[in-house]
Amino acid sequence: MTEHLTVGRVAELAGVSVRTLHHYDEIGLLEPSTRTAAGHRAYSAGDVERLREVLAYRRLGFGLREIADLVDDPTTDAVAHLCRLRGLLMDQRDRAAAMVAAIDRELEARAMGIRTTPEEQLTVFGGQLYDAIGSAYPATRRTDPRIAARVWDALGDARTVLNVGAGTGSYEPPDRDVTAVEPSAVMRAQRPVGAAPCVAAAAERLPFEDQSFDAAMAVSTVHHWSDPVAGLREMRRVARRVVVFTYDADDIGWRQRFWLTRDYLPEFGDLLVGWPSLADLTHAIGGRAEPLLVPWDCADGFFEAHWRRPEAYLDERVRRAVSVWTRVGSQAEQRAVSTLAADLRSGRWAERNRDLVALDAAELGLRLLVA
Ligand SMILES: C[S@@+](CC[C@H](N)C(=O)[O-])C[C@H]1O[C@@H](n2cnc3c(N)ncnc32)[C@H](O)[C@@H]1O
Repeated sequence: MTEHLTVGRVAELAGVSVRTLHHYDEIGLLEPSTRTAAGHRAYSAGDVERLREVLAYRRLGFGLREIADLVDDPTTDAVAHLCRLRGLLMDQRDRAAAMVAAIDRELEARAMGIRTTPEEQLTVFGGQLYDAIGSAYPATRRTDPRIAARVWDALGDARTVLNVGAGTGSYEPPDRDVTAVEPSAVMRAQRPVGAAPCVAAAAERLPFEDQSFDAAMAVSTVHHWSDPVAGLREMRRVARRVVVFTYDADDIGWRQRFWLTRDYLPEFGDLLVGWPSLADLTHAIGGRAEPLLVPWDCADGFFEAHWRRPEAYLDERVRRAVSVWTRVGSQAEQRAVSTLAADLRSGRWAERNRDLVALDAAELGLRLLVA
């Protein structure tokens, strides 16, 4: 029995009770491979490896049933589990670090007798989010030429352009005089050498005089702002023309049509609660909304981009570059991904979505607001 550990020893090493290990055995989550001569449970090295995975997923907040699905997944070996656990833990660490920094700032402000505003208290879920997740952004997020053509066309003959929520500089027109605004230091630091100058500020309070620019643009960013309507009014104030790439949150039609939100990640709907209507957004800039179809091979890996390439959502790098996956939480994310993986393996996804193969572009609620 030298290579086996007794139940008491495993419990001691793992910091769990013997009762917990008995329970895991009874529900089939972790059945020790053998028994001692006296009939006690004895755990092999393989059993201990499985226990380590179970406990790590448990610590990340997964339920026992979900953990059973994860550790029983035949396509995931020990190395794949370690990589996935590492990614999830890093993500949790980054989010915790961003929240600790926000709490420190608030404690400092309180010590000086300053009460933070509700907006400031919530920034950890907005701009600060990109300080936590932004380093994963450039791996899969870049200018899609067809979307860029629409944005640049809408900018008309503008010579000076303000890019709000500019991130790493995607969609900045190369032939115009661009100024960028970006609140996240992590995103600013990743702007390529030679990119347009970038000011550390937020949309809701743009540090520019009225009518300073011919045009202001904002791409895939408005949903991160603490006050989208205020930010859009600011864009309107500082520029004569405004172009915004965003989505229509009130039209649940496209969420039902998009298999990812319909069949795997209904939690996406929760993120839209309280979000201003498309009418409110267009009204804030005094403009109109035009549909923007997502090409099947979209180069910019935003949430909807891989609608005809479902395997892409199984790739951790694709998900880490899209804030939706962080916002829904790791439990919903892992459930969605493992269910999608199973449906891709079984052919269920292909069966349910066979119409998509014939489409070159899809209407998934994305809109170009132009004023
Ligand atoms: C999905 S990225 C889009 C970046 C870039 N526009 C692009 O298309 O690649 C969203 C950006 O919005 C920024 N952001 C978050 N809150 C903001 C705010 N209140 N004002 C301006 N930008 C904000 C984030 O820091 C992040 O860089």
